[in-house]
Amino acid sequence: MAVSDCLSRLKETSALNHLINMGIVISLLNHKGGVGKTTSAVNIGAAMVELGKRVLLIDLDPQANLTISLGIPRQKVTIYEALRGESEVSPYCHKSGMDVVVSGSGD
Ligand SMILES: Nc1ncnc2c1ncn2[C@@H]1O[C@H](COP(=O)(O)OP(=O)(O)OP(=O)(O)O)[C@@H](O)[C@H]1O
Ligand SMILES: [Mg+2]
Repeated sequence: MAVSDCLSRLKETSALNHLINMGIVISLLNHKGGVGKTTSAVNIGAAMVELGKRVLLIDLDPQANLTISLGIPRQKVTIYEALRGESEVSPYCHKSGMDVVVSGSGD
């Protein structure tokens, strides 16, 4: 799907969700590497912030490319501590309207 089609659908979905006051979850998954998952997540997230939505990006990749590409400094608590039940999920406020549950290399 072209990015413009994707954004049009997001605008429609955004309008519908405004009516029913619900959040939506968008998962970007593909076994193949280097196909644009991280790039799409960052840009769709940024576009949704521009549409006035509050966005929570969750970086589930152990490479932490999304976290690193946003310039977020290393955090003590990442998605892994949260998934292991060692900590509460602790989103990092990247900018107004966009929070990030960070990943990390674990070292
Ligand atoms: N629409 C696009 N057009 C051209 N290049 C793109 C596009 N989307 C992503 N890229 C480039 O492709 C490369 C891989 O993108 P990205 O890191 O987003 O892929 P990925 O699927 O998240 O990779 P990985 O499997 O390693 O997590 C990057 O260099 C990125 O800049
Ligand atoms: Mg990636």
